[in-house]
Amino acid sequence: MPIRFVPTAPEVDCHAILQDPKIEAVLDRCYREWAAQRRGLIFHFLPQLHRLLFKQKMDWQKMFGITKDLYLPLEAEQGGLLYVAARAIGARRVVEYGTSFGVSTLYLAAAVRDNGGGTVIGTEILPEKAEVARSNFKEAGVDEFIDLRVGDARETLEDCGGEVDLVLLDGWKDIELDVLKTIEPQLRRGALVFTDNVHTFEADNHEQREYMADPRNGYRAVVLPVKDGMEVAVYTGRE
Ligand SMILES: C[S@@+](CC[C@H](N)C(=O)[O-])C[C@H]1O[C@@H](n2cnc3c(N)ncnc32)[C@H](O)[C@@H]1O
Repeated sequence: MPIRFVPTAPEVDCHAILQDPKIEAVLDRCYREWAAQRRGLIFHFLPQLHRLLFKQKMDWQKMFGITKDLYLPLEAEQGGLLYVAARAIGARRVVEYGTSFGVSTLYLAAAVRDNGGGTVIGTEILPEKAEVARSNFKEAGVDEFIDLRVGDARETLEDCGGEVDLVLLDGWKDIELDVLKTIEPQLRRGALVFTDNVHTFEADNHEQREYMADPRNGYRAVVLPVKDGMEVAVYTGRE
């Protein structure tokens, strides 16, 4: 039986949950810019549309060119969910695969700060995107809580500097399992792992989902009907 959630009423402002006008102002601008980008999104994705429609594996190398100027952010409802979860578990060290212009990072940084301080380790492979993200972090006043690493997540996340409390996997799907395995030895028991877009890119991320569904690997996971499916898993540790 699928879990049903009452959809967020349109008048509910999901990033007001942060109660921080400086961050909210940056998020408002980012979401406005993303809304403008979305109107032409279909044209960006035309070369890959047949793959999306027929649930085939995507050409992720081509995705870099197609999306280099696009936000592709988590929705505000998802950001709010991350904030609540990170606060609930007292997360101090958070890792994010796929930072883009830093929308999700802002929610996570607010949570870490409100938990008494810590670090969000973000990673973005495109330096131009990372530069924009950095200026967003500064403008939002949370740059001191973010360690943005430019490069391939499989390398940049090898050493997160200590036990990781929460992970967001929101990069290209073809390597998501590799990224998870890079971070895994650093997860604390009880760490939460969020994965975005689990249904749209089923052909690419089924290995990761199967891996997390196998009890020998130490996860318990559930897919929430948020956007096109957001998985949340708790790392219970290998026996
Ligand atoms: C969906 S976007 C992330 C959106 C972001 N989490 C947000 O909410 O604003 C995915 C990002 O992952 C980046 N990416 C793809 N492959 C990567 C890799 N191997 N290492 C680091 N970043 C990567 C892409 O360049 C893209 O900007």
